[in-house]
Amino acid sequence: MTLLLADIYILDDPGAVSVIIGEGTNRHDYLVVRFEGEISVFENACPHQGTPLETLAGKFFNRDQTQLLCSTHGAEFEIETGFCTIGPCKGEKLRAAPFRLEGATLYLN
Ligand code: FES
Repeated sequence: MTLLLADIYILDDPGAVSVIIGEGTNRHDYLVVRFEGEISVFENACPHQGTPLETLAGKFFNRDQTQLLCSTHGAEFEIETGFCTIGPCKGEKLRAAPFRLEGATLYLN
């Protein structure tokens, strides 16, 4: 079990943060999202070209904060499922990462 975020409540609602674990070939970038009280965790790699969603630092949501946004080419994703609804990877999904919340502490399973 790997610690992902010590206190989930540092995130606004809606809010998101990129958490990088490991380095070199063991480096993994996760996107932790808090939205309407629910937590989602995805691998932070757009299914289109594999870039992190926030090529604009700290910008994870579309304009009205209803979907996740890849700022490279504008793909948008459902927050709950990671399903791409608009953009060049429409129909694909962000890869969900299994997690466990213990109190306010978030772990990868
Ligand atoms: S890399 Fe995300 S939309 Fe192109």
